[in-house]
Amino acid sequence: MKKVGIIGVGKCLPKKVLTNADLAKMVDTSDEWIITRTGIKERRLVAKNEATSDLAAGAAKMALENACLEPVDIDLIIVATVTPDMSFPSAACFLQNSIGAKNAVCFDVSAACAGFVYAISIAQQFITSGAYKNALVVGAEVLSGVTDWKDRNTCVLFGDGAGAVVLSEVKSGGILSIYLGSDGSKADLLKISAGGSRHPASHETVDNRLHYIKMQGNELFKIAVTTMSHAAQTVLKNAGLECKDVDLVIPHQANLRIIMTMAKKLGLSMEKVYLNIERYGNMSSASTAVALCEAVNEGRVKRGDIILLDTFGAGLVWGACVIKW
Ligand code: ACO
Repeated sequence: MKKVGIIGVGKCLPKKVLTNADLAKMVDTSDEWIITRTGIKERRLVAKNEATSDLAAGAAKMALENACLEPVDIDLIIVATVTPDMSFPSAACFLQNSIGAKNAVCFDVSAACAGFVYAISIAQQFITSGAYKNALVVGAEVLSGVTDWKDRNTCVLFGDGAGAVVLSEVKSGGILSIYLGSDGSKADLLKISAGGSRHPASHETVDNRLHYIKMQGNELFKIAVTTMSHAAQTVLKNAGLECKDVDLVIPHQANLRIIMTMAKKLGLSMEKVYLNIERYGNMSSASTAVALCEAVNEGRVKRGDIILLDTFGAGLVWGACVIKW
């Protein structure tokens, strides 16, 4: 069977920084509350004319350069996002056009914070089957556009950004195992109610603020810890590995306390866990994608290392992936 690995990484973060102090001027909150409850210090926000595919393009160009490939070499583009530029066409099609990847088949994947791992899994299958050779997988979000800036329960949590990888056949190492899961019975815990076919946009949906993220954070917190721990154990077992074999864990960056509790449950030292939540907050599908790029660029990932991606989000959905670098 073909081995599929990551041959290039990239990221793109918007320039504008919103600090906790800035937020304290907008809603009844404090720097101290946000840091102790979430671990977040600041997050990035897009400029007025910037959309998801613009961030995706920045990340994609960096990943292509890193992989020493040209846009025309890419035959598959998958963008994981819950905040595409428009309902349709897909963000992937806009991305294709802006980078000139004219030979690529393009589509989006909607799996919230687990979207990046879901998209990697799809790309892996296509490459393994021989259908496509070089896949560009991007996690890109503009969550600032669906954040209720009057709701202190959610507005302190989210940010904008994009991360990208290029996947191809590799001679050794690569993806060792992927584990995905979903539980639609808990869909109500985290959602944007309006703007789809259930509640099309109307004056009423706007008046009721139904186009913004609504989250039952407390309930999700417990499920996130249990689910991410289970996903990590399962994907490692499937790869014939144990937690002690992992060199670096790159978890979804929703809350520092979720990550720390999960690490403790797994018996993992926090030194083996990559964090960027304090700089970017929760960027949904972009969180693990950006974190992977930064971990590689900072020298935290070396050839032969065992890397674990572990994600969880709205759906509910979860996905974990073990890679030998
Ligand atoms: N500033 C000050 N006080 C606040 C704020 C704020 N920004 N937000 C909430 N509070 C208050 C609440 O009103 C509440 O006050 P009360 O006790 O008087 O009612 C108190 O703080 C505690 O609120 P909780 O919601 O219980 O706080 P908690 O410690 O659970 O932290 C948080 C909330 C950060 C949202 C946490 O629950 C969390 O991270 N949940 C999981 C998020 C997650 O995993 N999401 C899934 C992935 S994201 C995706 O898919 C897009």
